[in-house]
Amino acid sequence: MDVIILKDGDAVAAEGAVLLRQVLQRKANAVFGLASGRTPLAMYRRLVVDCRDAGLSFREVTTFNLDEYLGLPPGDPQSYRAYMQRELFDHIDIDVSNTFLPECGAGADPLETGPAYEALIRSRGGIDLQVLGIGRNGHIGFNEPTSSLRSRTRIKTLTRETIAANKQYFEDPATQPQLAITMGIATIMDAGHIVLLATGADKAEAVRQSIEGPVSAMWPASMLQLHEKVSVLLDETAASTLALRDYYDWVAEQKRKLFESLEER
Ligand code: GLP
Repeated sequence: MDVIILKDGDAVAAEGAVLLRQVLQRKANAVFGLASGRTPLAMYRRLVVDCRDAGLSFREVTTFNLDEYLGLPPGDPQSYRAYMQRELFDHIDIDVSNTFLPECGAGADPLETGPAYEALIRSRGGIDLQVLGIGRNGHIGFNEPTSSLRSRTRIKTLTRETIAANKQYFEDPATQPQLAITMGIATIMDAGHIVLLATGADKAEAVRQSIEGPVSAMWPASMLQLHEKVSVLLDETAASTLALRDYYDWVAEQKRKLFESLEER
């Protein structure tokens, strides 16, 4: 696990965008797993600018979002589909027919949405790079504490804490869903590279438990310790309670020197 501590949210967004661009340079038809929420917004804005001004192209890209609310009417502005259109897809050259969320269409059986989503991800060759945020309770996607560490895409009931955290986005609390369909933890673990972004002091405890605590379903993101390629991008406040803070900075410094010496050869 690479723990990279950066000055602020802007630097986290910039580094996240670099990691996505590197994948695109290698593979124009990359498959990205994407997240919603406040955290990745600044990174998406950077990608929009790169696409507009710097020749970055998503023309051949496929995306799979982590999660979607269950029970919102189609086109609801609070749906994660609407969020993705508004914040990213409407502003880049992606083919929208290659963008997927675990949406349960009108009249569809929500119990079938998960297995169908898993099959679709497999049919596109799997996810090359998965972007994650983290909830204050350590959730990834909507895999709330005590989610099976081997879970697959399915319906989850949101915790009261998650409902409270996302309440701000719903004008009428009566319309806020309590259920969602989310990729499972095993689905996320199948990605080739996982990039977790966390900014703000309210994420510090979840970050500490997930990086330095035991692997436990009580902190779902702790499962990432068992993945072979994870980059954790943190701002100073999200990293503020890490016990091995000095070590992560030391590692980053050593890696920088190593790469510089390799480039000089
Ligand atoms: C949300 C989403 C997650 C997101 C997390 C953190 O509820 N389901 O995918 O990563 O919680 O959200 P935010 O970035 O807004 O803090």
